[in-house]
Amino acid sequence: MSSLLELKQVEAYIQQFHILHDISFEVPKGEVTVLLGRNGAGKTTTLRTIMGLNSMSNGSIFLKDHEIGGLKTHAIAKSGVGYVPEDQGIFAELTVGENMKVAMMKEDEETTKRMEWILELFPDLKKFWKKQGGKLSGGQKQMLAIARAYVNENDLLLIDEPSKGLAPIVVEKVMESIQEMKERTTILLVEQNFMMASKIGDRFYIIDDGQTVHNGSMDDLRNDKMLMQKYLGIA
Ligand SMILES: Nc1ncnc2c1ncn2[C@@H]1O[C@H](COP(=O)(O)OP(=O)(O)OP(=O)(O)O)[C@@H](O)[C@H]1O
Ligand SMILES: [Mg+2]
Repeated sequence: MSSLLELKQVEAYIQQFHILHDISFEVPKGEVTVLLGRNGAGKTTTLRTIMGLNSMSNGSIFLKDHEIGGLKTHAIAKSGVGYVPEDQGIFAELTVGENMKVAMMKEDEETTKRMEWILELFPDLKKFWKKQGGKLSGGQKQMLAIARAYVNENDLLLIDEPSKGLAPIVVEKVMESIQEMKERTTILLVEQNFMMASKIGDRFYIIDDGQTVHNGSMDDLRNDKMLMQKYLGIA
């Protein structure tokens, strides 16, 4: 199997609510796979379930052909999955530098190199190294969140709506940075900003009411006005 990550008929509940009914998709190595779908469709729940933050009631999740469904979150992170949550998950009281340090799982040469690279990609993080996370702008917080996931030796990054709440010019910057990262890692991206999704995505899956209902290449989707209208509300 060439896919780095594969979900097969994943189901999940949040309390008594059956939220994910049948999530099945593959994330090929070296590509950006985008999860699309309306608000409340189950995109965030899907990422949380992959990370073991939400338990799965049925189905299977394979990472590099090993089943990770049912493992604890730290074990999943350790096996090479970085997660940038929707709310960014940074520590407001800690400085940028401290946020980076607590995120680092190792302090080896490779990690140092990735840290240098990420600080070149996001010079603001270097500039505001001693500033508290909570005092950064929205775009800077997003960059810090991405940097925290990237600094570790991950095979796969899960990024949940990085454009959310950001001004268009900042969205552009975040998009460019993800595009650069694409050369170095595999990405599963949740993104409602269609412009961003279509620029950096290779393949897409549409989630509707907790099910993966459509998939294809990003080029196919751009030309399918009916599909976009039906599931994404894009005229
Ligand atoms: N803690 C919770 N308790 C009950 N229901 C929840 C909870 N969290 C999410 N849900 C429900 O699960 C469904 C899927 O939510 P999820 O956050 O995964 O959607 P999403 O596709 O990420 O949406 P958005 O685009 O708004 O971020 C929604 O109907 C939501 O109301
Ligand atoms: Mg969400």
